[in-house]
Amino acid sequence: SIHVLILAGGAGTRFWPASRAARPKQLLPLLGGEPLLAATARRALPLCARGGRAGWERVWIATGQHLVAPTRAALPEVSERRLLVEPAPRNTAPCIGWAAATIARDDPEAVVVVLPSDHHIADVPRFLEALGAAVASAQGGAITTIGVRPTHPETGFGYIEVEEAAGEEGAAPAQPRRVRRFVEKPSHERAAEFVASGRFLWNAGMFIFRAGDMLAAIRAHLPALAAGLDEIDRAAALGPGAEAEAVLRVFPGLPAVSIDHGVMEHVAGLAVVPGDFGWSDVGSWQSAWELADKDERGNSAPAGSVLIDAHGNHVVDLRARAAPDDRRVIALVGVEGLVVVETDDALLIVPRDRAQEVKHAVDALKARG
Ligand code: GDD
Ligand code: MG
Repeated sequence: SIHVLILAGGAGTRFWPASRAARPKQLLPLLGGEPLLAATARRALPLCARGGRAGWERVWIATGQHLVAPTRAALPEVSERRLLVEPAPRNTAPCIGWAAATIARDDPEAVVVVLPSDHHIADVPRFLEALGAAVASAQGGAITTIGVRPTHPETGFGYIEVEEAAGEEGAAPAQPRRVRRFVEKPSHERAAEFVASGRFLWNAGMFIFRAGDMLAAIRAHLPALAAGLDEIDRAAALGPGAEAEAVLRVFPGLPAVSIDHGVMEHVAGLAVVPGDFGWSDVGSWQSAWELADKDERGNSAPAGSVLIDAHGNHVVDLRARAAPDDRRVIALVGVEGLVVVETDDALLIVPRDRAQEVKHAVDALKARG
């Protein structure tokens, strides 16, 4: 059987003031109507059961205790039993290991497709085609990732060196390749070398494996995590109460490490499926504007906004709008390339090309206490 695990516990400050501790990026409707998390789950559902009700039984969400209520509200289709609630944030290796252990109890051969909750995918059929190839690769015993052709020396991604030089993908069906090495978040200098070499792909943050294979890799490279998972397993054999108690006791002490650093950089025999499906990690307000629907002057703004001689602006209104007679209007006159974000308690105005600097506002507010 095939299961999907969506990682939905991340924080993040690049979408301030929309993102907050209680409402991180994956819970925001950054690109249209639904939160990124809900879009992720709906997109991946066909992998589990070719659609239909049974599919939701194989969709798992890993998130933090403080995000349970908004996560359930964003995705009511996922039952409480499929919510892996982390009592403390420990990065991605522990929650991936916990999911693998839980799924392996029923079926160690089950394939788990791990997906980030906060990305955008333009071409869903090609995305599903790549993941189909990755599932087949995982069924053959290889921990498999999805690789995206790099366009610039980004230092916020992992890089995957393929064994043979990557050729042109074009419309050819996605085929798994053997991985020479996996390098998580290199320096700018190394990233530039990797991109220039033509042998590297960006890691899209998706991991596909048989549950038992991931547990074996964790046992080999993160023994402290394996020991903690064993303890949870032993408790699970006693019943759900004992399991929940063990999670509360054990999880906060698990090593806080990403799957990339903790496992992927060390494990041999990895495979990567190159995917060309319009992938974006939606890393800033700038990329949200790039992906948004825009008018003929390049403005993305809520209906009803007044735009006069305004060009290339990104206007976002995330106020809760509790009052039905709230008719506040946003008007832009004679401005270009701005990001304007309104929430119930903050207003952000920043040039689009400086959107990354929003984190300085977050730092300034933190310093104020
Ligand atoms: N449940 C849970 N618990 N989810 C988490 C946690 C956690 O403690 N920490 C992060 N996540 C979720 C995030 O919400 C996101 O969906 C996903 O896991 C990846 O975490 P990020 O924090 O966004 O990782 P990253 O972007 O720095 O790096 C990863 O993604 C890149 C592609 O976007 C790595 O896999 C890189 O190699 C990769 O290139
Ligand atoms: Mg990310």
